[in-house]
Amino acid sequence: MLSSLSELLQRKTSGPKIAVLTAYDYPTGRMLDDAGIDLILVGDSLGMVVHGLPDTTGVTMDMMLIHTASVCRGVKRAPVIADLPFASYRTPEEAVFNSKRLMDCGAAAVKLEGGVSMLPQVSAIIAAGIPFIGHIGMLPQSVKEEGGYKKKGKTSEQIDRLIADARALDEAGACAMVLESIVPEVATQITGFVKASTIGIGAGNGTDGQVLVTPDILGSFPWFRPPFAKARADVAGETLRAVREYIADVRG
Ligand code: KIV
Repeated sequence: MLSSLSELLQRKTSGPKIAVLTAYDYPTGRMLDDAGIDLILVGDSLGMVVHGLPDTTGVTMDMMLIHTASVCRGVKRAPVIADLPFASYRTPEEAVFNSKRLMDCGAAAVKLEGGVSMLPQVSAIIAAGIPFIGHIGMLPQSVKEEGGYKKKGKTSEQIDRLIADARALDEAGACAMVLESIVPEVATQITGFVKASTIGIGAGNGTDGQVLVTPDILGSFPWFRPPFAKARADVAGETLRAVREYIADVRG
């Protein structure tokens, strides 16, 4: 069980693999912490699975601040990572300003999407003394420019770009990086040359750890679940059952 980001390096070299899940509220943060999760991510996936938005581009700093503070109130041990949402890090100054706001809510690190193109923002965040986690591969905040969610690392041009992005984040001092929807062989290759811990999602088993969106494993968002996320509970089914039972009891 991780209790500090400084333990990431040892976990990369000696294992076990790093287990990461998302949380968006106090009870989930508290339960994940009690269960022994290594890291908790207040992901901007909350746009879809909490707020019912079509993608993450509608998530605002105000939403991230409220959810980050709620999660942090429930977590005693696991480091909490907060996402910088869409259009909250357009300049290095804006990135540092908004990162500090998330840290003031109790986050232990911030995450933003992008590699080489985000290097000025990443370097500014790290220079401000804020622990940083990268996110490369398929970038959900770019879904509109990309015209959908597309796996990365299928062409030699994409592989070169992923390797350059990973190297840039690593050299800038990222303590970990999410590798999202990347061809598994490429994710394994990146994991082998970066000092940072790699946390995969839809990127195979060769990364230093795995992250999933908690409603996907709990079955509490039954309307969509990515194929790589195994549902380990049926919270939606159990909720329907309990509510129908309550309705029947009240009606008599
Ligand atoms: O927003 C999120 O939940 C994420 C994970 C999918 C990595 O960024």
